[in-house]
Amino acid sequence: MKSGTPNHFETDSAASRGRALLITARSMPVRTILAILVAQTVAINSAQANDEPALKTAFRDHFLIGTAVNRSMTTGAAFRRTTDQVNADIALVRKHFNLVVAENDTKWALIHPREGQDGYDFGPADAFVNFGWTNEMYLVGHTLVWHSQTPNWVFAGTNPPPAADSAAPPPGPGRPGGGFGRYTGPRASRDELLQRMRDHIHTVVGRYRGKIKVWDVVNEAIADGGTNVLRNSLWLEIIGPDFIAKAFEYAHEADPDAILRYNDYGLENPAKRRKLLTLIRSLQEQKVPVTAIGSQAHVNASTTFDSMDQALTEMATLGLPIHITELDVNLSEGGQRTTGADIANNTAATQSGLVDDADRRQAEAYAGIFRAFVKHAPHVKMVTFWGVNDAVSWRARGKPLLFDGENRPKPAFQAVIAESRNPGPSKPSP
Ligand code: XIL
Repeated sequence: MKSGTPNHFETDSAASRGRALLITARSMPVRTILAILVAQTVAINSAQANDEPALKTAFRDHFLIGTAVNRSMTTGAAFRRTTDQVNADIALVRKHFNLVVAENDTKWALIHPREGQDGYDFGPADAFVNFGWTNEMYLVGHTLVWHSQTPNWVFAGTNPPPAADSAAPPPGPGRPGGGFGRYTGPRASRDELLQRMRDHIHTVVGRYRGKIKVWDVVNEAIADGGTNVLRNSLWLEIIGPDFIAKAFEYAHEADPDAILRYNDYGLENPAKRRKLLTLIRSLQEQKVPVTAIGSQAHVNASTTFDSMDQALTEMATLGLPIHITELDVNLSEGGQRTTGADIANNTAATQSGLVDDADRRQAEAYAGIFRAFVKHAPHVKMVTFWGVNDAVSWRARGKPLLFDGENRPKPAFQAVIAESRNPGPSKPSP
């Protein structure tokens, strides 16, 4: 097998580099020698990293293996990383993944920051689609309707907001084009908001029709606590609970061949999962074109085979394909207390340092999680990581991914690869 074949060229050149170093070393200051040794170790380590089996190959009989990519990776323009690091990130994406999703660039705030047909910024989303298309990767769109990263103008109009909202302080400057705060000013009517939603979905889905094969149509509509199925949001308050059905109908009109996904986090939690089952069954009864379940799977170090197995078993009863959409295993102490992934709580979820024995615990968690994915592979069609390596992760402080900031595979990587070879539970004899 290719991965087991020793690479004589690399071994030879490393050895001859070593000999050359010995010959010239006598005339060099110690600091220079040390610097060369460190540089050579890094070079040899990254050469070894390239010998690792590719995730997409290891799981090719099970499911697609995806990653979220950021704008640096799709445009090559370095941001918070050096050009060399960005190039290494891109090489890693090409090697290991056969599916990509844009971490931010297809969200409403980024692709449609201003009102009207001239209010779209397609450049970065086009770069993402070109990146995936030219690398022959499966393309996923994220996300059409969400309470977060949606610009204020979407909800703005002339109807006075309810008293509780108008009493709140006005939204701060935030990030241009819509931050994470909630808009509190005068509101659009139901019809205005539906019209904006329809225009947005038709334009964005229509533009990439035939290229982006799956859309997260509605993201995170379910409430975390309490007994309400739906989270309070401006979509819910202005349109009513059928905002979800409408979004799916519009997306289906725009691309009848696209797989249309409902996506949420915390579905490992039995109470939240019950709400998911209630919501999706009700959509199915209304013949709403929801055709896949997206489970984000932003989980922590306590996640086990059993908890993931149970979650997948119950979700599979809906009869829809299951997509793992944003997998990561947060190692921050702050992330062990809760299992959610609410953007608003992200700082708390990545505080207080790492858990003890972090690498080992992460490897164990990832092994159990992938054992469950493989067991449920007939239903699980794709597994997507939320980011390429720990340095670019949205939860960088929780070091939640399979590769470190230098793209070196961590123990969790080996644990995941091992699960691709696990024969699984033996079949009962006939
Ligand atoms: C995150 C991105 O990773 C960050 O870069 C951004 O600042 C905030 O959003 N659930 C989702 C994703 O559906 O869109 C979120 O992505 C992470 C949680």
